[in-house]
Amino acid sequence: MVTRILLDVDTGTDDALALLYAVAHPDLEVLGISCVAGNSGLDQVVLNTLKVLDAAGAGDIPVAAGASRPLIERARPEGQFHGADGLGGIPLPEPRRTRSGLPAVEMLRQQILGSPEPVTLVALAPQTNVALLLAQHPDVAANLARIVFMGGSAAGGNVTAVAEFNVWQDPEAATAVVESGIPTTMYGLDVFNRLTVDEPTANRFRNAEHPAVRLAGELLHRRGARSDGSAQHYLGLIGDPGALVWLTNPELFTTATHPVRVNLAGIGRGQTIVDRRSHLQDSEALGLDPWPELEVALDLDVAAAAADFTRTVDRYTG
Ligand code: BDR
Ligand code: CA
Repeated sequence: MVTRILLDVDTGTDDALALLYAVAHPDLEVLGISCVAGNSGLDQVVLNTLKVLDAAGAGDIPVAAGASRPLIERARPEGQFHGADGLGGIPLPEPRRTRSGLPAVEMLRQQILGSPEPVTLVALAPQTNVALLLAQHPDVAANLARIVFMGGSAAGGNVTAVAEFNVWQDPEAATAVVESGIPTTMYGLDVFNRLTVDEPTANRFRNAEHPAVRLAGELLHRRGARSDGSAQHYLGLIGDPGALVWLTNPELFTTATHPVRVNLAGIGRGQTIVDRRSHLQDSEALGLDPWPELEVALDLDVAAAAADFTRTVDRYTG
């Protein structure tokens, strides 16, 4: 069964790994890719995305530029986490493909409404583009099977003690997604931080002939605590592709339906509050609005998920 997906990215070393995975996986069909400022500024994100798709030898997938800053906050400083260029300084040829002439929201709208079957929207970045899409074109909800987003956490954060980067960068956008009423899966930081590929596999990729496989190896080597290529020990966190592994191999994940909200205020701003109490209070009786319920990934079979990622990258060499 092929799942038709749209990807929203801020490429980014792990977004790049997700692009390589999505293009190669036989159960995924990528209809379009929207770019948003996040790991890098918008133009750099678009450039990185085009270069990675070239390395993957991807078909003609529209790549559209979207928001260059969060909904209400100023743009954040660039190059904080994945090196100045967002790809840890990996040298890649100038892209042969070009960006779509359409703005991201319009590209997403056309792809969703033009699809003969419902589409899954996979957001691997701050959710500004997705929030704008839902606000400007609420009719797309009818042909969205699900939103899967990498973001938030059922435990602690990375940018702050409680906030994960994608949600922290644009908490109002994340709120729009969480409260959209569209079936939504949250692949949060606590699960994200466990999915690694071992160093021998990354080294094997690095020495491969195929540019996509070589790129995967270089990217994995930069998926450490610091991603600028400077001295660091190997961690091999694959990151964003885990959200796609959830789509292709849901049986490898433990998920549960929980009430979730985004904390917009004060020192907790950008936190996803996942209500994991086994006995919820009756919010109606207390005069409280019920919280939206999301499917939250809580655990995964790390070895099997890593094996699926490795197998998928190996498909480039046949
Ligand atoms: C998320 O933030 C970005 O740096 C990564 O690409 C990932 O989507 C992790 O917090
Ligand atoms: Ca990302």
